Amino acid sequence: MSSSPAPVKPSSDIHRAWWKESSVYQIWPASFKDSNDDGIGDIPGIISKLDYIRDLGVDIVWLCPSYKSPQVDMGYDISDYYSIADEYGTVADVEKLIQGCHERGMKLLMDLVVNHTSDQHEWFKRSRSSKDSEFRDWYVWRPPRIDENGTRHPPNNWVSHFQGSAWEFDEPTGEYYLHLYATEQPDLNWESPAVRKAVHDIVRFWLDKGANGFRMDVINFISKDQAFPDAPEQDKDAVWQWGDRYYANGPRLHEYLQGIGNILKEYDTFSVGEMPFVKDTNEVLKAVRYDRNEINMIFNFEHVDIDHAPYGNKFKPGSWKLTDLKSFFERWQAFMYNNGGWNALYWENHDQPRSIDRYVNAPQELRPAAGKMLATVLALHSGSPFIYQGQEIGMGNVPIEWGMEEYKDIDCLNHWQGLLKEKPFDTEAQQISRQEYQKKSRDNARTPVQWSAEPNGGFTGPDVKPWMSVNPEYSRVNAADQVQDPNSLYHYWASVLKLRKAYLDNFVYGNYELVDRDNQEVYAYTRTYGTSKALVVANWTDRQLSWDTTAQKMGNVKVVLDTYESASAAQGRFSGCQWTLRPYEAVVTLLEE
Ligand code: NOJ
Repeated sequence: MSSSPAPVKPSSDIHRAWWKESSVYQIWPASFKDSNDDGIGDIPGIISKLDYIRDLGVDIVWLCPSYKSPQVDMGYDISDYYSIADEYGTVADVEKLIQGCHERGMKLLMDLVVNHTSDQHEWFKRSRSSKDSEFRDWYVWRPPRIDENGTRHPPNNWVSHFQGSAWEFDEPTGEYYLHLYATEQPDLNWESPAVRKAVHDIVRFWLDKGANGFRMDVINFISKDQAFPDAPEQDKDAVWQWGDRYYANGPRLHEYLQGIGNILKEYDTFSVGEMPFVKDTNEVLKAVRYDRNEINMIFNFEHVDIDHAPYGNKFKPGSWKLTDLKSFFERWQAFMYNNGGWNALYWENHDQPRSIDRYVNAPQELRPAAGKMLATVLALHSGSPFIYQGQEIGMGNVPIEWGMEEYKDIDCLNHWQGLLKEKPFDTEAQQISRQEYQKKSRDNARTPVQWSAEPNGGFTGPDVKPWMSVNPEYSRVNAADQVQDPNSLYHYWASVLKLRKAYLDNFVYGNYELVDRDNQEVYAYTRTYGTSKALVVANWTDRQLSWDTTAQKMGNVKVVLDTYESASAAQGRFSGCQWTLRPYEAVVTLLEE
């Protein structure tokens, strides 16, 4: 982040909004709940679990793409925005889902994937059919570059997010098309007014059905530098280079976002934008400041890229320290708060490994404690918390013993294929990659939800082969057990979300300040609104330790939540200059003058 933060605002200047006060539960339909025993999750399955979601205390359900799709990228390759994939159900099922959410006082957020479509979308089929097609300019087509030997090359050196060149040559018309993701995901050309109109129509269609807003997929990529220049070489070992500076937060982004924002405003709905590669904070602010009418909140990536190697090399080992994580949070917390923006808070989603394995390395018996600590730290930050399916029960990454045949995700599989091609005999490189897949592959988030200790974790029928294997931990980690157990992580999440609402001024509208910055074992911060100050302290280790409270002016301490016991039981333990924190313990207190 480049610019320095503005002075802290007085609390009275804070803009209030329902979506700031809300929390969100994310559903990835293929793996949520299968209602018809075909081994794939579906919308009726989601409807059957709406009470479970409501009881967690969330306000919004985010449904990942469920539209018609060849599923090359699990629905992020849409072939028809107006129908639902057969395996998930029908438009009528989505209408029932919307109604089911509304009846329970929750809203439904849809996924809007409009940087690209599937190559099976009618628009693309027509676009590629001829240079004269009226759909030709709906996508990004460019002629080849021909070198001095007469050899054909892509129009520039950009790398695709899923490996290789971001351009694909199309023989019949002799031009390349741009695909920032898979070859089967051609990028739409937002320069075309007809494309923008088509997107606006889709937005209205789902809002008219009662959807309450959109999560917008890589929405800051929709405006590209029309010169499509070569990217500077960053990674010397790579053939293709990241062209993000030419397509992330491009020249016409704000105009395009306002086009959608105007529609969302009419319906009093909201949006959350996925915005990778944001470096210029002014650009972020223009997209997300509450009075800009563009996006209400954004997902940024610094804290989830924390274990990647340089140059976006996710599948190479990277290392990090707690102070790195704290400093990412500190910057974004202060920046958004002081400038009228808003954070979407997340540890997990369908693209990230499980937080309990990424951010802590707890022994088996301490995993529930670690999950509670992560819940506390995340949800009491400034922003709207997002919980990804299974996170509320502490689901873990896939087992290290799993072979490559268990992995299904294009991101990971393309990397593996590339490696086998490039280094077929380098068993050490292959071994390292396998280890990194187990740590960071998107497959980690995509195993079916573990509903019970029954076969297949209750996700689908006992004799059905689910589309992706259930993580064998299901007998130990499952929703049925946790719903029964008042001390479970599931119920703890509900307590945190309840606390956030009970002290809305502090935890939603309060100013964030990091405490004890250099401590590598404890993450502590305050949330202050007027004269009311709340303090969150988390032990990030698997050991009991003593925290020196002199880092913070304390006054009277009132415990309002603790991960090990009730607030009243914990009260006696938190006074004086040294606080004893149990392994992964988090405690939330109010500090009274
Ligand atoms: C971001 C989505 O979260 C991810 O799952 C998808 O593969 C890419 N965008 C492309 O749509």
